Amino acid sequence: MSDQDWSRVFDRSYAEHSRSTRQRVWREVYGPEYAEHAEPYSYVSRSELEMFAEYLRVGPSDTLADLGCGRGGPGLIVAARTGARLIGLDLSEVAIADARRAAERFRLSSPAEFRRSDIAATGLPDGCVEAAMSVDALTFAPDKQQALREIARILTPGGRLVFTSWDYRRTPDNRPPQVADHRPLLDRAGFDVLAYQETTDWRNRWQATSEGMIAHRAELVAELGEERAEATVQSLRRQLDDQLPLATRRVLAVAERRRTNRMPRG
Ligand SMILES: C[S@@+](CC[C@H](N)C(=O)[O-])C[C@H]1O[C@@H](n2cnc3c(N)ncnc32)[C@H](O)[C@@H]1O
Repeated sequence: MSDQDWSRVFDRSYAEHSRSTRQRVWREVYGPEYAEHAEPYSYVSRSELEMFAEYLRVGPSDTLADLGCGRGGPGLIVAARTGARLIGLDLSEVAIADARRAAERFRLSSPAEFRRSDIAATGLPDGCVEAAMSVDALTFAPDKQQALREIARILTPGGRLVFTSWDYRRTPDNRPPQVADHRPLLDRAGFDVLAYQETTDWRNRWQATSEGMIAHRAELVAELGEERAEATVQSLRRQLDDQLPLATRRVLAVAERRRTNRMPRG
């Protein structure tokens, strides 16, 4: 369990993290699957972004929310691909400022909007988006059931949610509570689950990127200074030792907000 202030954790990590060493390691591990223009702060791949664009089923007259959008790249890529208007939400003010700058690089037909807010309490009106996506962010929401209910609330009936996240056998130390399977939570939140698939090579990519960063410690020191480089290495070691062994799968889920008022199961 963890009662960490995740907005502070992410503000600090976005302000202080390595960009060039990280990109280099991600490119080495992902090869042609590295989502270059998205500059992800996640494990999303090029193929996954294509799946997001396809499964979300949105077009130019629709609005798409990206929950836990980080620096915006993945949502901006999907918006550029589909023509949908993008609203990106994230807890981190630093990430939101970066996302606004990233949006200037994309020539979107309708301007993207980025706001600081919590996945579980977005402040958006009921039924205001036709689709929602989330890349590797739900894992940080302390109450995943509430987060999914909130996403159902802002979606129009029949609207789709596509997300990637992890199932865990138990919650690692210093992490918010994790779940073994998101499908019952999706059902209770009012979604029909259309697909729930384990993502390609996720364990190897997590391990290889973490080990790759640790192996490039000298570059990290040159980029960040000794203290921040050491903090980065320690955090990566905790991921390898405490978090990765407890994760059972990284999933890409596709769910549709039910149109009927049928009571969710359970
Ligand atoms: C691993 S990063 C992924 C960022 C982005 N989706 C990407 O693929 O680059 C997780 C993001 O979730 C955000 N986050 C964590 N908890 C959140 C919450 N409760 N509400 C909104 N954003 C949250 C963090 O600030 C961070 O930007």
